[in-house]
Amino acid sequence: MPGPAHPPKSFFLCSPDHFDVTFEINPWMATGRRPDRDKSWLEWNALVAGLRSAGATVHHSPSLPGLSDMVFPTDVGVVTDRSFVRARFRHQERGTEAEHGAAWLLEHGFAEIPWPDDPALYLEGGDVIRFGEVLLCGTGPRTSPAAAEHLSRALGVEVVTVPIADPRFYHLDMSFCPLDDRRALYAPDVWDVEGRRAVEKLVPEPLVISVDEALTFSANSVVVGRTVVMPACPPRIRTALEDWGFTVLISPVEEFLKAGGGIRCMALDLDLLGRA
Ligand code: ARG
Repeated sequence: MPGPAHPPKSFFLCSPDHFDVTFEINPWMATGRRPDRDKSWLEWNALVAGLRSAGATVHHSPSLPGLSDMVFPTDVGVVTDRSFVRARFRHQERGTEAEHGAAWLLEHGFAEIPWPDDPALYLEGGDVIRFGEVLLCGTGPRTSPAAAEHLSRALGVEVVTVPIADPRFYHLDMSFCPLDDRRALYAPDVWDVEGRRAVEKLVPEPLVISVDEALTFSANSVVVGRTVVMPACPPRIRTALEDWGFTVLISPVEEFLKAGGGIRCMALDLDLLGRA
């Protein structure tokens, strides 16, 4: 029997007006392999339609010139309970995205929660994921280990740290996807032993996937009610999800994978903890 589904979701997306690969800040990006403009728009429009058909509310705004990664707004902050913590990006190439993301959130009635004024305390939204009553925080490639403790204080929620060992999975949302309050799909082999133990203790019903399965970006998915909106889904994973009562909706985002981002990166969850 499936556990209780999460409440309906609202997401914020940025359209690919200026999407490109103009720098290389993760192992997937190669400036010699640029995304196709028309295909990017087709994929992005189909993703918006897919999220809506699954029952989500989608807000969006255009991306800005010079910010070629702005199509991945998940990273701009951690949002819940009508408030947010603004990201501190590890790479200066993405730094100003945090300001634009914060401006959109402030305009839409979200209040900003202060963050310590320490330039070396990095936080990127792609590393922060809810599971049940806690937040998981991936650390290492992007988010600083110390960020977890500050996040816990800022949001008043327990935060469990998952140190990331494999740089191809530089954000936690590339190796962990919560399905409901008991189930999650994840690739433990890309974390260090501390992370593996923590997640094992936390998730009563895991769907463990291999590194190869994770390389398809299958974990970089979002769940809307009982629909898992995925960039790709190897057959074994599809069978397991369907056996659990989920519907799999594949929305290919091949052009965005060229920048190392998939569906979870493209859809900022406007209420991570689902408490608002
Ligand atoms: N090119 C972007 C970066 O390297 C991709 C962002 C992916 N975001 C995510 N939440 N996994 O930062």
